[in-house]
Amino acid sequence: MPTTLIEKLSRLKGGASGVHKSISALAKAGLIARLKDAKYDGYRLTYGGLDYLALHTHSSRKHVYSVGSQVGVGKESDIVIVADDKGTQKILKIHRLGRISFRTVKANRDYLKNRPAASWMHLSRLAAMKEFAFMQALKEEGFPVPDPIAQSRHTVVMSLIDAPPLRQVSTVPDPASLYADLISLILRLAKHGLIHGDFNEFNILILEETPSKSDPEEGKDAQQQEQGGKEESVVLTPILIDFPQMVSMDHQNAEMYFDRDVNCIKTFFKKRFHFVSTVPGPFYKDAKKTVGRDGAKRLDASVEASGFTKKMAKELEAAIREQQAIAAEKAAEKGTSPASDDGDDDLDEDDSSEGEDSGQEEEPQNVFIVPNSNSDMVPEDDKLEAMEGLSLRERGA
Ligand SMILES: Nc1ncnc2c1ncn2[C@@H]1O[C@H](COP(=O)(O)OP(=O)(O)O)[C@@H](O)[C@H]1O
Ligand SMILES: [Mg+2]
Repeated sequence: MPTTLIEKLSRLKGGASGVHKSISALAKAGLIARLKDAKYDGYRLTYGGLDYLALHTHSSRKHVYSVGSQVGVGKESDIVIVADDKGTQKILKIHRLGRISFRTVKANRDYLKNRPAASWMHLSRLAAMKEFAFMQALKEEGFPVPDPIAQSRHTVVMSLIDAPPLRQVSTVPDPASLYADLISLILRLAKHGLIHGDFNEFNILILEETPSKSDPEEGKDAQQQEQGGKEESVVLTPILIDFPQMVSMDHQNAEMYFDRDVNCIKTFFKKRFHFVSTVPGPFYKDAKKTVGRDGAKRLDASVEASGFTKKMAKELEAAIREQQAIAAEKAAEKGTSPASDDGDDDLDEDDSSEGEDSGQEEEPQNVFIVPNSNSDMVPEDDKLEAMEGLSLRERGA
């Protein structure tokens, strides 16, 4: 945004010099950065600044009071434990599309450098919107997913599930039963018109419950599981997370996504638990026939009705596909498969230094600041959203 426009829009007291003071304070804190190659004098929001704005919103709405440790670094997100003022812990998922820019992948490097940071921020916001919309729709239908609490800009606040991802589970009492539960989850999604699209061992959390102490909240899910092992003292309930890549059963590549989800589970169960189902499938063409059956609400339609439009979905999908292609390319260079970089889970050793190399120089990575909710320096959301929109157009992004 050109400095002259900031002066005009900010309506700060103290005229141009007051504005410049504020600008330099924000730039010093790394919340905005001076434009480097622009033909005019101006500044752009950094990811640190965007984090600040999102946290300010969560904090003023009393969803977040404090920020704790980071529990995960995904390829396209940071997962942080936060708490509200009552000390209830929650998860803050910060979407960071565009981070996956690799120094090692020469072919894509130039292209990525050309996409402005503002465009990645816009896409990250779309990812958060989509994730929140799907989590809400799924929760309403009683699917085992975290409670969606709030969404602001590129972030989502959800309930903390105190359970490890399937990836970290080395043995289970009854693999066949867990396998059956996961396959029914895929089929239940299909019945509601949806494919998860990334149904793998990282995105399924395994909740362990002892049936004796019945938790009213989790009890619902446990009932739906119909676990066979009554002698076993624990019931395993899979909780599904990570929804930015969900697609409709009507998607042109639906069959490919459906098969990929099914095969992910088959492959994992074979490798980890030496379990191979004697039942072939399930197959997309059979699942397709069940869409909407028994009055199942079509959640692909509800999400669109909630404001996450087809146009937004298309834009996000293209970006996600692009990111996945780069991940695959990088994995191929490394000689691993993109979904299973053995050993270090989701963490990528190149991540730490990517900030410098992604055309987002001077970007303080992972800056978490708990904003002071009394601060009157931050204008209301609507105005900010409008300003951010303006800066996008300004860049022709
Ligand atoms: N609500 C949650 N409760 C507990 N752990 C979570 C929650 N959401 C995410 N995680 C942890 O963070 C990791 C990454 O989260 P995910 O939503 O899959 O992000 P990404 O899109 O980067 O893969 C998960 O594998 C899980 O270990
Ligand atoms: Mg994930």
